[in-house]
Formats: sequence, structure tokens, C-alpha cells
Amino acid sequence: MRSAFKNHFLLASKFSVGSKKAMDKVIFGMTMSLDGFVNDKTGSVSKLYPSLEDLRNTEALQESIRTTGAVIMGRKAYEMANGDFTDYEYQVPIFVLTHNPPSKPAKGENDNLKFHFIRNGARNAVALAKASAAGKNVTVIGGPHTGRQLLEAELLDEIHIDIMPVLLGEGLRLFEHLNGSVDLEKIKVTQYLTRTAIRFQVINKNSNDEPIEAEVDALSAH
Ligand SMILES: NC(=O)c1ccc[n+]([C@@H]2O[C@H](COP(=O)([O-])OP(=O)(O)OC[C@H]3O[C@@H](n4cnc5c(N)ncnc54)[C@H](OP(=O)(O)O)[C@@H]3O)[C@@H](O)[C@H]2O)c1
Repeated sequence: MRSAFKNHFLLASKFSVGSKKAMDKVIFGMTMSLDGFVNDKTGSVSKLYPSLEDLRNTEALQESIRTTGAVIMGRKAYEMANGDFTDYEYQVPIFVLTHNPPSKPAKGENDNLKFHFIRNGARNAVALAKASAAGKNVTVIGGPHTGRQLLEAELLDEIHIDIMPVLLGEGLRLFEHLNGSVDLEKIKVTQYLTRTAIRFQVINKNSNDEPIEAEVDALSAH
């Protein structure tokens, strides 16, 4: 029998994975070194993000902010903020995948930015984020573990990679240990700051318009 703490949401087919309008996509965006690392051997991203201030002022980030209605991130990406999301660029609901939700969320919540800690899987996170995004895109901030799960579950529509002109040599690889090959189609290549930005569409083999069903563990969201 279903737990009293669980609700079931059958989301309308407009939120489903499949034929896409301009803005209801699930987009995995990462910054990577030319040799494929998203951080260095110490775990630092400083060479990939030399100036957050400059990045915030770019049209590329401003466009992403305008078109994003919800964010998904893994617990380790969430931890990068060291417990403080005050003035975080994406002022939208944030869905954090974790097995162990914190006793209290990071600082920075307000009427727009609310944390939801999702214990019951990537598919649920995507369904809930889509429902919250109200027709805008869902932006997946990372890290690689989270992005790969969504890719393997065929839940991603696009991958946006910014390549920085640096070779890190060691660190965390973006697409290591991927479970099989994935076909991509290049959408656009642009340059801004010192970044080379490549957008790809993911060619999902089983793409269809079936709605995604989300089982919400009310204990893990608030
Ligand atoms: N260059 C960039 O653009 C960029 C962007 C973001 C992050 N990063 C780098 O990436 C690093 C983190 O990447 P990562 O791949 O190791 O970690 P991640 O994807 O951020 O987080 C992984 C963690 O999320 C939780 N999780 C993931 N899937 C889950 C599921 N289905 N159910 C429940 N919990 C789930 C688990 O944490 P628990 O089991 O502990 O709950 C898991 O250990 C950061 O430290 C940062 O250095 C780089």
C-alpha cells in the first residue's frame, strides 16, 4: 500500500520527454577543460571559472537564466556553495538529488528559490522540475554523476559544453564510464570570454511523448 507521505503526480504530456517546444527542455550544462575534466586533481574549478563576475555579465548566462524555470543538481554540486546560495544566479526551484537530505537547507531561499531534496531518483527529479518550470527549461548544473544518470535514462534533451583553454591533466572526467554510446547532433558553436561553447541535441533512442510519472517523497521535499 502506498505510504501516507507519498503523493502521485501524473504530469501532463506537455512536460514529457519528446517533441520539444523552444523552452521545455532538459539541458545539462557544464564547463570543461580541453582534456575533459570538470575540476582539477584538488577538486578545484578555479581554472574553469576564473571570474564568476565576468560570466554573470555574458549574454550566454543571462539567456540561460531567462529561460530556466527549475534547476537540478547532485548533492556534491550543491555542496560547492558551502551552504550559501544567497544571490545565486538561478532564482528558481532547485531539486537536489541526495540519499541524505540535510536537516536544514542552505542559506538563500526566498519566494522563488526553494530547495527540494529528492531521494527517489533522477526520473522523479526531472518530472518534478518540469512541473515547477512551468514551460521553461530545466537546467542541470551537474556534477557529472548526475548528468550521466539523466543521459543514460534518456532524460536529457541538450548538452551544453563550454570548453576552457586549459589542460588540467587530472581531475573528475565529465563522461567517464558512460553506459554505452549516445548520438548527438551539433546545434550551435559560439565563443564568449575565453570559452568555446558547443550545444548538442541528444538523440534519444526511445524518445516518445509518454508523460513522466513522479512519485514524491514528501519527507524529502519541503
Ligand atoms: N565544471 C563545472 O561546470 C562543474 C559544475 C558542477 C560541478 N562540478 C564539479 O563536479 C563535482 C561533483 O560532481 P559529482 O559527479 O561527483 O557529483 P554530483 O553529481 O554533484 O553529486 C553526486 C551525489 O548526488 C547524490 N545523488 C546522485 N544521484 C542520486 C540519486 N539518483 N538518488 C539519490 N542521490 C543521488 C549522491 O549524494 P549522497 O549519496 O551523498 O546523497 C551522489 O554522491 C563538484 O565537486 C565540482 O568540482 C563542476
